Amino acid sequence: MNDLKALLVEGIHPVAVDVLASSGIEVDRESRALSGEELVSRLAGVQVLGLRSGTHVTAEVLAQAPDLRVIGAFCIGTNQIDLQAATERGIAVFNAPFSNTRSVVELAIAEIIALTRRLTVQDDAMHAGQWRKSAKGSHELRGRRLGIVGYGKIGSQLSVLAEALGMHVRFFDTADRLALGNARRCATLEELLGDSDVVSLHVDGRPGNSGMFGDAQFGLMPRGAVFLNLSRGFLVDHSALRERIVSGHLAGAAVDVFPNEPAGPGDPFESGLRGLPNVILTPHVGGSTEEAQQDIGDFVAGKLLGYLRAGATGLSVNLPEVQLPRLDGATRLLLLHRNQPGALAHLAGVLADGGLNVEQQLLTTSGTVGYAVTDVRGTVGDGVVDQLRGLPETIRLDVLTG
Ligand SMILES: NC(=O)c1ccc[n+]([C@@H]2O[C@H](COP(=O)([O-])OP(=O)(O)OC[C@H]3O[C@@H](n4cnc5c(N)ncnc54)[C@H](O)[C@@H]3O)[C@@H](O)[C@H]2O)c1
Repeated sequence: MNDLKALLVEGIHPVAVDVLASSGIEVDRESRALSGEELVSRLAGVQVLGLRSGTHVTAEVLAQAPDLRVIGAFCIGTNQIDLQAATERGIAVFNAPFSNTRSVVELAIAEIIALTRRLTVQDDAMHAGQWRKSAKGSHELRGRRLGIVGYGKIGSQLSVLAEALGMHVRFFDTADRLALGNARRCATLEELLGDSDVVSLHVDGRPGNSGMFGDAQFGLMPRGAVFLNLSRGFLVDHSALRERIVSGHLAGAAVDVFPNEPAGPGDPFESGLRGLPNVILTPHVGGSTEEAQQDIGDFVAGKLLGYLRAGATGLSVNLPEVQLPRLDGATRLLLLHRNQPGALAHLAGVLADGGLNVEQQLLTTSGTVGYAVTDVRGTVGDGVVDQLRGLPETIRLDVLTG
C-alpha cells in the first residue's frame, strides 16, 4: 500500500497514524477541521480521509475528490458526511459505533453513586464552609432498583456493572434483548418506571423517541427516585424534569445531553436545570475519555486498512457488508454496482471472456447498491478492467493484486 496517501484532520489520535503508516500509507495530519476549497485542495491525490465531527464532506467536496476511496469518521456520528453522495461515488464510510460505550457506562455508574449519596450537595456545602453531617437521603446502591430504558450496547453494559455493585436491575427495550445476569425484563415502560429507584435512559435517537420522557413518565417514578440521561437531549422535557425536582418528587438527576447544546468550548450554556440541588450537569462528555479516543483511533484505522487490503466492508455505514478472507496469489476485484438484475451475470461474462477463473465470490446487496467481491486466478488485463468499469450498472471497480 505504498502508493496510498491519507489525510487525517481534527487531531485524530496518533494511534491511527501509527496503524496506517506502519502499513506503508503516507499520512498527512492536520489538527483543525477543514472545509470547502481548503479541504478539496488537501484531498488531491488522497485516497483515505479521516475526520471527526467538524469536517463537513458535502456532495460538492466529493465531486472534486476523484482519488478518494474511503472515509473514516473517528467518532460515532456520520451526519457530517453526505452518505448518499459517498455511496453514489463508491466511497466507503466507516465509524466507531462501540468505542466509547464503556466510558458512558462508567460515568453513569459514578453519577448513580453520586446522586444516591447526594455527593454534590455535600460538596457544595463543604465548599461554602458548612459542615452538615447527616445520613438523611443518602443510600447504599446495594439492594436499590435500577431501571434501564434501552438495553443496547450501553444499557446492557451498565446492567452488568450495576449488578456487580449489588443493584437489582430491570430494563425495558422495544427490541428483543437477552437479559444479562439476573436483570429482569419489563413488559412496559410504565412497569419499569413504577419499580425503579434509579432510572437511566439509554435509547437511540430515532425520531419517534423525541420527547419520550415528560411529566407523565416522571410522575410514574416513585417519590425520591433519581433520573439519568446520557443518551440524547431531545428525548427529555427538561421543564418537566425541573418541576419534578423543585417539587421534591425526584431526589436528583444527572444530565449529560441537552436539546440545544452550545456549538463549541467557551460558548454560554443555558438550561432550566442549572442551580438545582443534587442535579449533576456535564457537557456531553459521557463518551469523552482518552481511552475512548485511543480505541476509536485504533478501531477506525483498522476498518480503513481492512477495506484497502481486502475490500472488507463489515460495519460500513453506507456499503453492503462483505468480508471474505483473501486467497494467496489471487487477484481481488471489488465491484460496487447499482442493484439491478443481471449485474452478476455481466461480471461473470466479462471474466469468462477474459479467460479468468473465479476462485471465490461473495455478493451482498443493500437498498440501491450491490457489492461483489471476486477472487480470480490469472492476470487481470486492462481490457477486462475497462469492460467492468464500462458496465451500465458499475459504480466503482477496484483491483487488489497479490
Ligand atoms: N453521552 C455521550 O457522550 C454518548 C456517547 C455514546 C452514545 N450516546 C448515546 O447513548 C444512546 C445509547 O447508545 P447505544 O450505543 O447503547 O445504542 P444502541 O443502539 O446499542 O441501543 C439503543 C437501544 O435502545 C432501544 N430503544 C430504542 N427506542 C426505544 C424506546 N422508545 N424504548 C425502549 N427501548 C428503545 C433499542 O432497541 C436499542 O436496544 C444513544 O442515544 C447514543 O447516541 C451518548
